[in-house]
Amino acid sequence: MLKLACVNQKGGTGKTTTVLHLSYILARKGARVLAIDLDPQANLTSAMRLDPDNIESGIDDVLESYAQKGDKVKITDVARDIDIGDVRVTLAPSNAYLERLNITLLNALARESVLRSALEDVKGFDVVLIDCQPTLSILTLNALVAADYTLIPVETRGLSVQGLLMLFDTIEQVKEKLNKDLQVLGILPVRFQKRLKAAQKNLERLQNFSDVVKVYPPVPESAAFEEMIENNKTLYDVESETAKRALKIYEQVADDIIQLAMVVA
Ligand SMILES: Nc1ncnc2c1ncn2[C@@H]1O[C@H](COP(=O)(O)OP(=O)(O)O)[C@@H](O)[C@H]1O
Ligand SMILES: [Mg+2]
Repeated sequence: MLKLACVNQKGGTGKTTTVLHLSYILARKGARVLAIDLDPQANLTSAMRLDPDNIESGIDDVLESYAQKGDKVKITDVARDIDIGDVRVTLAPSNAYLERLNITLLNALARESVLRSALEDVKGFDVVLIDCQPTLSILTLNALVAADYTLIPVETRGLSVQGLLMLFDTIEQVKEKLNKDLQVLGILPVRFQKRLKAAQKNLERLQNFSDVVKVYPPVPESAAFEEMIENNKTLYDVESETAKRALKIYEQVADDIIQLAMVVA
């Protein structure tokens, strides 16, 4: 079971979009996928067409129980099967209450490894994808401690190299102190508009990182992304050129994940 956390402490960099699309691409390739929404904004939950305000139990209940003594609420107790296009994935949903965990976990023993413990009780999946909130919070730390790999989506229009360096520094610290096996799968540039000079320049700056980490080819900006969610369509159903190119890049990432999942399994 390979666990991958999609992280970037900046908002709007394509984390949720990446987890959503990788979920069904991996499922279509035959992997059993568990997606975990670890963002109190619950965008992944909404994108998978569940109403965060109306879920009975979510990942917050799981983390709360694992942070305490006594009975555990397992991830599989709160997870739901979701049909996307013609495949099925499993989602551990989130809601606004999850934000409270950033406070309650402060006083918990081994507060950074609560999600890791919860995942130790999960079986029957090939890949676990964790969608993180846009801060380096205790929740995000939990994702980094639970994960085997991180994927870092970066928006090519508004790149902050300093922000990226800070993220790498955090990952290094997590490796040193909390999860020595954590690895970076790569940087994924997204929303790339090749006609924009700033985007070209930012892509080059990202490619400079390729000595130390894999930098995937950029996922193009495509209007299809907004429409697909609303119509329960996937990148396989959309005809536009940009959507086809986006699918190719996401499939490349998915193929890497499947290769690595076979090693971990
Ligand atoms: N390749 C893309 N083309 C066009 N829009 C995109 C693309 N990738 C992401 N988006 C849009 O960008 C916005 C932010 O993406 P999101 O995945 O929610 O970021 P994050 O989870 O990092 O905050 C969303 O409205 C999403 O639909
Ligand atoms: Mg998000």
